[in-house]
Amino acid sequence: MALERTFSIVKPDATNRNLTGAINAMLEAGGLRIVAQKRIHITKAQAGVFYAVHAERPFFDELCEFMSSAPIVVQVLEGENAILLNREIMGATNPADADEGTIRKTYALSLGENSVHGSDAPETAAEEIAYFFAGLELVG
Ligand code: CMP
Repeated sequence: MALERTFSIVKPDATNRNLTGAINAMLEAGGLRIVAQKRIHITKAQAGVFYAVHAERPFFDELCEFMSSAPIVVQVLEGENAILLNREIMGATNPADADEGTIRKTYALSLGENSVHGSDAPETAAEEIAYFFAGLELVG
């Protein structure tokens, strides 16, 4: 399989606890290369566009409020089978269901404050990367 890229977010609960470096170490140890990264503070409206697929869900407002509550670190990760590999390294969405040794089992506080986001498919990875990164930031 060729090299693949996926999109990742270190969420506010993790940046608030100064866990970006620890999470990055787990991503790198798992075989992913961080090829682009920046720390930004998005608005609630910008979070709403990113999570538009969840707009009708009961947790949508809470999710957008949380994602705009503090800085996040947005990342492009590269590796063999990067989308699936990152989902394995992150663990299940709900930390109560996540395997030992995963990021969410280790650091997540709850289903909502679950420390990281990762793309779930090639199409969403491409869309999510394009939402946060310009082409010039993705060279090399
Ligand atoms: P993420 O992978 O970023 O994708 C959507 C997010 O919505 C998910 O991680 C969770 O943090 C959050 N989420 C999913 N279900 C719920 C829920 N029932 N209540 C609150 N937040 C949720």
